[in-house]
Amino acid sequence: MCGIVGYVGHEAAAPILLDSLRRLEYRGYDSAGLAVHSQGRIQILRTVGKLRNLENALAEKGLPGSVGIGHTRWATHGRPSEVNAHPHVAGPIAVVHNGIIENHLQLRSQLEASGVTMSSDTDTEIVSHLIHRESVGGHDLVTSVRKALAQVHGAYAIAVLSAAEPDRVVVAKKASPLVIGVTRQATYCASDIPALLPYTNEMVFMEDEELAVLEADGFSLSTLGGAALSRRPRRISWSPIMAEKAGFKHFMLKEIFEQPRALEDTLRGRLDRENGDVLTAEIGLNEDDARNIRRVILLACGTSHHATLAGRYWLEDLAKVPAITELASEFRGRDAIVGEGDLVIAVSQSGETIDTLMAAKAAKERGAKLLAIANVNGSAIPRMADASFYTHAGPEIGVASTKCFTAQLANLLMFSIWLGKRRGTLDAAQARELVEGLARVPNLIEERLKPSLDAISEMVREFSDARDVLFLGRGLSYPMALEGALKLKEISYVHAEGYAAGEMKHGPIALLDARVPVVVLMPRDRHYERVSSNLQEAKAREAKIIGITTAGDAEAQALCDAVVEVASTHEALSPFVTVVPLQLYAYCVADHKGTDVDQPRNLAKTVTVE
Ligand code: M6R
Repeated sequence: MCGIVGYVGHEAAAPILLDSLRRLEYRGYDSAGLAVHSQGRIQILRTVGKLRNLENALAEKGLPGSVGIGHTRWATHGRPSEVNAHPHVAGPIAVVHNGIIENHLQLRSQLEASGVTMSSDTDTEIVSHLIHRESVGGHDLVTSVRKALAQVHGAYAIAVLSAAEPDRVVVAKKASPLVIGVTRQATYCASDIPALLPYTNEMVFMEDEELAVLEADGFSLSTLGGAALSRRPRRISWSPIMAEKAGFKHFMLKEIFEQPRALEDTLRGRLDRENGDVLTAEIGLNEDDARNIRRVILLACGTSHHATLAGRYWLEDLAKVPAITELASEFRGRDAIVGEGDLVIAVSQSGETIDTLMAAKAAKERGAKLLAIANVNGSAIPRMADASFYTHAGPEIGVASTKCFTAQLANLLMFSIWLGKRRGTLDAAQARELVEGLARVPNLIEERLKPSLDAISEMVREFSDARDVLFLGRGLSYPMALEGALKLKEISYVHAEGYAAGEMKHGPIALLDARVPVVVLMPRDRHYERVSSNLQEAKAREAKIIGITTAGDAEAQALCDAVVEVASTHEALSPFVTVVPLQLYAYCVADHKGTDVDQPRNLAKTVTVE
């Protein structure tokens, strides 16, 4: 996690760096800092807490100069404090870093034994001392960075200044993301695309073990070993306005409301309504491949993992292919059996989550074919994959994922339909019904967004004091129950559990009493009767029931204490409509409690630590 930025140009660097950091604050927000070349030396400004503290300090002290670097931190080594905030300085060297230096303890002892005094608890400070030590040995900045990084194990994206070379920033990366932005007058770098969108759409994605020298009139790229590389910038189609709140109180609410548009963009050009098929060359498989897949393994973390759980149901149901889902962190941690004949689908909004990246890499190395489903174009997982099937949800800034989740569902369902058609497990009529239904989903969501928000914001007055909330669902509603619980936990800090409704009687029922609201997902599907019985069991323990029911379902509504109606859909499409009220419920509870909805405590948008 953490976000890093850099600027080399002719304008005042500090406001540009601060503005870019603001767009990266979702990556970490416990402290922040800047380093700028100023009147022959490097000046540093660091503050604890959110960026506004750095902004206030900058307004007070100023930081003139047109070359600089910046950082927003999510603490890994050392608590949030000013000394642990980046940039870290050693002599004339200043460094910002995103990642983790794995051998930092060993390097720290070596440096201390040679007389270096450390001023922080961070792993990053070690990198600044290593670079300094090399520069004292007579090397220029680029060579010093190369030699220092040769001693380091772990993940890093770094940006480095040297007082001796005031016209450049040197950057390097391994396993943490870094993108370079170019214009005619300036060169930028950042951990993620949105940070640079107000300045340029021309971006170069750095690969692992690469180093670049950024100067005002361009950049040079090489391997860490020193071999020169050439890479043309890509044009990114996202606009800066896409990363603004557009009148909404929070990014999360804006992104929930953007779901119809995000889904339309994700479906566009991919649904063949005439033939009831999915058109996509991006999947990277031919008809033979489709028939010969032995098994699908879906790898992801967090919310993306919940999307894969729905994906598994679809793959088995529609394409009759054995499918398993696995948390990427667990898959990597064991000797998983995977190899030729397996199709691994790695699902990640950011495309940079380290656990998903490493798990997918391990599977690919063992012979599996790798398909990426990601939202960030050119991110690490798609770059490594055999093929990439992007979601087109636009930049997602709220730490709690919403629109990217429903876009991931769309891609997983499209892929399942495509596969089912090729494997002969989905007949023409079934496929046409699904494709037609999917095409209508954006409208179905749109129609109920405002009424649901109104109903839920009223409802949370009664329920927002609950300490525990249970979410229950069966079939495709089970992963949505998990997602509803995760959303509530992460932004409102209320303890919530998602359960397969049939499991309630095997334990969680012991938690129930009049103080525990139970959110029951009960669309009119094949599980309806049994979910209804589970609802009655909860009700008998005096739990208050919030039903997510199909519009007009009077029978279900009579059983519930409160109800949010969702559109009636084909059973396979129910996740798209049932999850939206759960996102809104989490949002309204958090807003009611006054928590920091877009930047909840202890979390970061992109998790690049293991
Ligand atoms: O970028 P990814 O989709 O790989 O991120 C995975 C999780 O870190 C992410 O979904 C996380 O659980 C979100 N905060 C959920 O809202």
